[in-house]
Amino acid sequence: MKIGMLTGGGDCPGLNPAIRGCVYRALGFGYECVGFLEGWKGLAEGNAIPLGLTEVENIVDKGGTILGTSRYNPFKKEGGPEAVEATIKKFSLDALVAMGGEDTLGVASKLFQRGVKVVGVPKTMDNDLSGTDYTFGFDTSVTRALDACRSLIDTGTSHRRVMVLEVMGRHAGWVALFTALASGADWVLLPEFKADPAQMVNHIKKVYQRKKFGLIVVSEGAEFQDDESEKQVKDEFGHIILQKRCLGEKIARYVESETGIETRSSVIGHMQRGGAPTLFDRILGLRVGVKAAELISEGKFGMMAALKGQEVLAVPLSDAVNNLKVVDRKWHELAQVFFR
Ligand code: F6P
Repeated sequence: MKIGMLTGGGDCPGLNPAIRGCVYRALGFGYECVGFLEGWKGLAEGNAIPLGLTEVENIVDKGGTILGTSRYNPFKKEGGPEAVEATIKKFSLDALVAMGGEDTLGVASKLFQRGVKVVGVPKTMDNDLSGTDYTFGFDTSVTRALDACRSLIDTGTSHRRVMVLEVMGRHAGWVALFTALASGADWVLLPEFKADPAQMVNHIKKVYQRKKFGLIVVSEGAEFQDDESEKQVKDEFGHIILQKRCLGEKIARYVESETGIETRSSVIGHMQRGGAPTLFDRILGLRVGVKAAELISEGKFGMMAALKGQEVLAVPLSDAVNNLKVVDRKWHELAQVFFR
């Protein structure tokens, strides 16, 4: 058996442990492994490297992905799916492991419907993938954001300022919500719930009177006033590129003008997507990687390795790609408990 692996979409800590887990388990089965570079692009172009013990034995603690990644979508390219299938044939691959989020697994699911023998490994720092309780990348990203909050609390308290931290999270606010809950922030803005600027400002004024400081965590995709015109640049999967929105800064300017309190904003951005994976993400990455190789050995194609409770189980790829897992009211209400 020969299996191909790729990592697609935004990178995140945990991908290298997942590659390691998959290669080690596959070698145990006597399979040969190759890694395609830069996601689906590498598969369409036949750009691959061998993946053996030497390549993966020292990567469990490394962020990013040794295979490289891209947001290349073969279904948006003339002859893209056919090019992918030709590479599979050329390399005599018996199976494919696609590691990625909704977009990458969406491509995997479509290829499976065309007859490609593929299994999935779910990843996303946004934690917005359905069909799995958590994805690796999330724990590390929130941990990084918590470090940033710790710094903002120190400098903000010293200067008697309100501090705004903008975190990633395009369609789902899990990163912002967990960052706010675990840092003791005073307000959070999420893409799932339309912001009430007046309510936020009143609350910040109240908090500031008590502690001469305030911390607001904002998800880059949150809705705040009307700025539709700025949201137009899209990637190959149709996602709006939010980096130029500068939402955190807009909120800081708004809070400062409404309260008269000096306010500063920071964007953690891609810093929260790199660096060594946390313990949780290393173990989860290894487990889902191992499971992916086992799914292949069992012939369970069209499935992905998903964390359900304490177990890593097989769930259909279609479960992951049909709906995004977004923050629900119950979680939002939990955050409100701490805004006093
Ligand atoms: O992978 C998801 C994500 O991390 C989003 O939270 C963010 O909006 C986006 O990636 C950024 O993408 P890029 O790295 O292409 O700028």
